Amino acid sequence: MILKTVDDSRAETVHIVRPNHLNAANRLFGGVLMQWIDEVAGIVAKRHSNCKVTTVAVDNLTFLHGAYQNDMIVIKGKLTWVGSTSMEICVDTYVETLDGQRMRINNAHFIMVALDENDKPVQVPRLTLQTEDEQLAWAHGEERRRIRIQRKKDNLDGI
Ligand SMILES: CC(C)(COP(=O)(O)OP(=O)(O)OC[C@H]1O[C@@H](n2cnc3c(N)ncnc32)[C@H](O)[C@@H]1OP(=O)(O)O)[C@@H](O)C(=O)NCCC(=O)NCCS
Repeated sequence: MILKTVDDSRAETVHIVRPNHLNAANRLFGGVLMQWIDEVAGIVAKRHSNCKVTTVAVDNLTFLHGAYQNDMIVIKGKLTWVGSTSMEICVDTYVETLDGQRMRINNAHFIMVALDENDKPVQVPRLTLQTEDEQLAWAHGEERRRIRIQRKKDNLDGI
């Protein structure tokens, strides 16, 4: 059985908000940010699984503050929980000021599934938890998993 740590797959990207990233209210367009955070979640999942991956669910996507032209956007992703073939990735987004201060503007959880060469779900490495924070994040991840599975069942049942 392959074991990996949270640090093995952490990812961070940085973007500058350009005019083509703005919406009609002159703020960063939410759809652009969603693409950026989906990419970071995908990098984390690929690093952990060493497979191609796909997004099956996104939740807790919360926009806390707006971002504006020329803002520096820092996006950080880390694994919080792994199942058999699925992985939960927590992605936090910050605006970083010139003096290095960061204000969190978004938080999201992604579920990514590892796929084999036939696009079938494939087993991912186990996760070794090294800190109390990682253990807490895992416990919260398990609780979110329980809710997601129920939500998927409700969706399939048309509720
Ligand atoms: C990913 C996909 C291949 C999985 O197929 P599937 O028949 O649902 O396979 P499974 O039921 O075995 O699910 C695979 C894993 O995903 C999890 N999963 C599936 N749907 C989920 C959901 N809505 N929420 C949380 N987890 C989910 C399952 O619990 C399972 O996890 P585990 O192996 O860790 O226990 C299929 O759902 C798919 O192709 N979806 C579309 C993905 C896509 O195109 N994304 C891009 C959108 S633009």
